[in-house]
Amino acid sequence: MSGVRTQVAIIGAGPAGLLLGQLLHRAGVDAVILEQRTPEYVLSRIRAGVLEQGTVNLLEQAGVGKRLRAEALTHGGVEIAVNHRRRRIALQDLIGKTVTVYGQTEMTRDLMDARKECGATSVYEAESVQLHGIDGTSPSVTYTHDGEQRRLECDFIAGCDGCHGVSRRSIPQEKLTSYERVYPFGWLGVLADVPPAWDELIYVSSERGFALASMRSATRVRCYVQCPLDDHVEQWSDERFWDEFKLRVGPEVAVRMTIGPSIEKSIAPLRSFVAEPLRFGRLYLAGDAAHIVPPTGAKGLNLAASDVFYLYEGLLEFYVERSSRALDEYSTRALHRVWQAVRFSWWMTTLLHHFPNEDAFAARVRAAELDYLFGSPLAQRVLAENYVGLPL
Ligand code: FAD
Ligand code: PHB
Repeated sequence: MSGVRTQVAIIGAGPAGLLLGQLLHRAGVDAVILEQRTPEYVLSRIRAGVLEQGTVNLLEQAGVGKRLRAEALTHGGVEIAVNHRRRRIALQDLIGKTVTVYGQTEMTRDLMDARKECGATSVYEAESVQLHGIDGTSPSVTYTHDGEQRRLECDFIAGCDGCHGVSRRSIPQEKLTSYERVYPFGWLGVLADVPPAWDELIYVSSERGFALASMRSATRVRCYVQCPLDDHVEQWSDERFWDEFKLRVGPEVAVRMTIGPSIEKSIAPLRSFVAEPLRFGRLYLAGDAAHIVPPTGAKGLNLAASDVFYLYEGLLEFYVERSSRALDEYSTRALHRVWQAVRFSWWMTTLLHHFPNEDAFAARVRAAELDYLFGSPLAQRVLAENYVGLPL
C-alpha cells in the first residue's frame, strides 16, 4: 500500500471541502482532498443559488472572487407571494444588506480551477474511503484509486462529504445525538435557458402548493414546485411543469414568462437534520455531513461556508499558535449558527408550503402569520435579517 502524509485530509470536493482546501492552502497549511466522484459529476449537481455576504467574503478570502464579482447578480430584495398577492421584502432598505445570486456549480467550478492552478492535490474517484484512528493523535484515511490501495496519514480529518458520506458514519453512534424533521413533500426543480420574467426571487404560497421563481443569470432560470414525495421526474414533462408553475405563480407573472426546454430536472425531498457534536477526536464534520436544512431559506450552502470558516480558524490557530482552543470550540460555535438556520428554514418551510394533513386550525394560524408578515415592517425585518444571513 503506497502512503502519503498531509496536515489535513479533507473528505469530499463539494463546496465545503473545496473552500476549506483553498483557505488552508492560502494560509500555508497542506491539505489533500479525497472525492469519490469525478469533477464532472460534482459539477453536474444543480443545487444552491443564493449566497450570503459572509459566504461571498470567504470566497474572496479564498482568492476566487474574480468571476463572481463580474458575473453574479446582487439582489436588494426578495418577494413573497400569497395566493397571487405579492409583497416585496426590501432587504437592503430594511437592514442594509443584499444577497448574491451565483450558482453553486459556478462557485464549485471556481474553487476547482483555483485548486488546480495552485497545484494542490485532489484525488477524484477515490473509492472505499475509510477513516482510521480518529480518536488518537495520528489518524489516517485509506482508499482505492486506479485499482491501488493507498493510505493518507494526517493530523486532522475534515469530514465534508455530504449527508451520505463516510465521515459521520465513522463516529460511534452513541457519541452522536441526531435531530430530524422529515417534511411530507419534495421540490421538483427545473433549469432552463430563458430570461427570467422576475427581477428578484419570488417565494410563492398558493392553494396548489409552494413554488419558487429563481434564476442563475439574465438568461437562465431555476424554478421549483412543491410535489408529493413519491413523484418521479418522468411524471413531469416540461409542459406539465410550466403549466403548474404558472398556475402557482399567478397570471401577472405568467403572462410575462418565456418558457423553454429544461436542461436539468430533479426532485429533492425536504428535511431538517442535525448531528451533534460536530467533532469526534481528530475528525471534524462540516456542511451537509453534519446537518441538512430544507432549501426554503437558502441556507444549506451558506452554513457549509460558515462551518468551514470556524474550522479554518481553529486549524490555523493550531498550526500557527500551537493552541487547540479554537478547535475545541469549533462544534459549539458552528452549532450555534446551524440551529439559527435550522429554525429559520423550518419556519419558512412551514409558512409557505401546503401540508397534506394540515387541519383547519393550523391553516388559519398560517394565514394569520402571513397576514402579520405582510402588514408588519418589524416582522419583515426579522425575515430579512435571517435571509441575508446572521453574522459569522
Ligand atoms: P455536498 O455538496 O453534498 O458535497 C459533498 C461531497 O462529498 C460530494 O462531492 C460527494 O460526492 C462527496 N462524497 C460523499 N461521500 C463520499 C465518500 N465516501 N468519499 C469521498 N467523497 C464523498 N443552499 C443554499 O445555501 N442556498 C440555496 O439556494 C440552496 N438551494 C438548494 C436547492 C436544492 C434543490 C438543494 C438540494 C439544496 C440546496 N441548498 C442550498 C443546499 C446546498 O446545496 C448544500 O447544503 C451544499 O451542497 C452542501 O455542501 P457540502 O460541501 O457540505 O456537501
Ligand atoms: C435556487 O436558485 O436554486 C434557490 C434559490 C433560493 C432557495 C432555494 C434554491 O431558497
